[in-house]
Amino acid sequence: MLSRTGTFVGLILVMCVMSDQVAAQRPGINQDETKVPAFTLPEVLKLNDGGWVETADAWQAKRRLEVFNAMADNVYGHVPKKKVSVDFKLVSSWEVLDGAAIRKLVEVEFGDAPGNSASLLVTVPKAEAPVPCFLGYNFHGNHTTTDDPKVPITESWVRDRKSPSTKGNRANEAGRGTSASRWPYREIVDAGFGLATIYYGDVDPDTHDEFKNGIHPLFYEAGQTKPKETEWGSIGAWAWGLSRCLDYLELDANVDGAHVAVVGHSRLGKTSLWAGASDERFWITISNNSGCGGAALSRRRFGETVGVINRVFPHWFCDRFPEFSGQENDLPVDQHMLMSLIAPRAVYVASATQDLWADPRGEYLSLQNANGVYALYGDSAMDVNPPVADSPVVTNLRGYHSRTGKHDITLFDWQQYVKFAKRQLSK
Ligand code: GCU
Repeated sequence: MLSRTGTFVGLILVMCVMSDQVAAQRPGINQDETKVPAFTLPEVLKLNDGGWVETADAWQAKRRLEVFNAMADNVYGHVPKKKVSVDFKLVSSWEVLDGAAIRKLVEVEFGDAPGNSASLLVTVPKAEAPVPCFLGYNFHGNHTTTDDPKVPITESWVRDRKSPSTKGNRANEAGRGTSASRWPYREIVDAGFGLATIYYGDVDPDTHDEFKNGIHPLFYEAGQTKPKETEWGSIGAWAWGLSRCLDYLELDANVDGAHVAVVGHSRLGKTSLWAGASDERFWITISNNSGCGGAALSRRRFGETVGVINRVFPHWFCDRFPEFSGQENDLPVDQHMLMSLIAPRAVYVASATQDLWADPRGEYLSLQNANGVYALYGDSAMDVNPPVADSPVVTNLRGYHSRTGKHDITLFDWQQYVKFAKRQLSK
């Protein structure tokens, strides 16, 4: 009895120490809804001259650009003005999924000098007509998305993983298929959609190197060594890369270029949102567990904050964003404005119940607070309360779910995206 009690007390002690450690690892991080500060969101429909937008025409003609510029100036940065050429080369194509689909490897070449290229992997069902397609970055190389032995192993810099699949920031054969659960090719192809993916490190390696590698230097003017204060960081560069993939997909005879949905998980969900906001050719924009700097409202300061994200990932945003660390109420924008920029096109946001770091409620609320702009296009209002777990809520143009579980993109998430996309197609 005594020893049992001893074990029990010991366990409690260990648990206390552990939760203290968790708190210590993330000092100042709030994950308690009752401690979310009171805040007022910037008015998305209020013009800089004080007037109000009342029609879709006025939004499109006047206010949309003001909001876009404010998001770019303060958060993601602008694409530099210099033009950089982009070429596409079909490297190879072969049959996959027991002959149900064709897979193509396309080399995307940035700039005139050799050495800056990315590999786009396009998988499309065999079909009579061009198919709608999902497009999204992967985290570890195209070869990690499938067991297919024909997909080349990326030669770009990769973040080392806690497994033999990488060594010294290089990928190897052991990584093949290790992210396959995130890329359900079979289900997507069977549903009649294509799936195109590209390794984000091909466009810009995810390290803070003062923007010496990746595509940033291609855009420098003479004498420039880093992006200007309101020019892009890595998320801006990755988003630009997605637009270049769309340029290719518009040319691909197997793909319906007017129906390309951009999708991304986590930091790549932040990226898909900015891509969808920046490039009005994207049909649907999907953000999976994108959190701070993505779908989550910055002013809530729940989970990851503006201060934390800029400290840990100083290369993701433009130089002005860190000025709002701890000063979120001074931001001229918040993430509901990012959602609004996607209107009248469709947008889907997904959270995971255990992913408090990404602030599921804040992810929902930015979508809900885009009600005003979406209403200009006849979309019905989303309720202020998020739906219960695993029950998607959809309006005509927007969708949201919170999946039970942790930070990840799973088959359940993809099933909702496919369903939402089919719904959009049937309109
Ligand atoms: C970190 C980061 C998040 C990001 C995530 C990811 O957790 O703090 O902002 O979304 O990495 O991309 O996996």
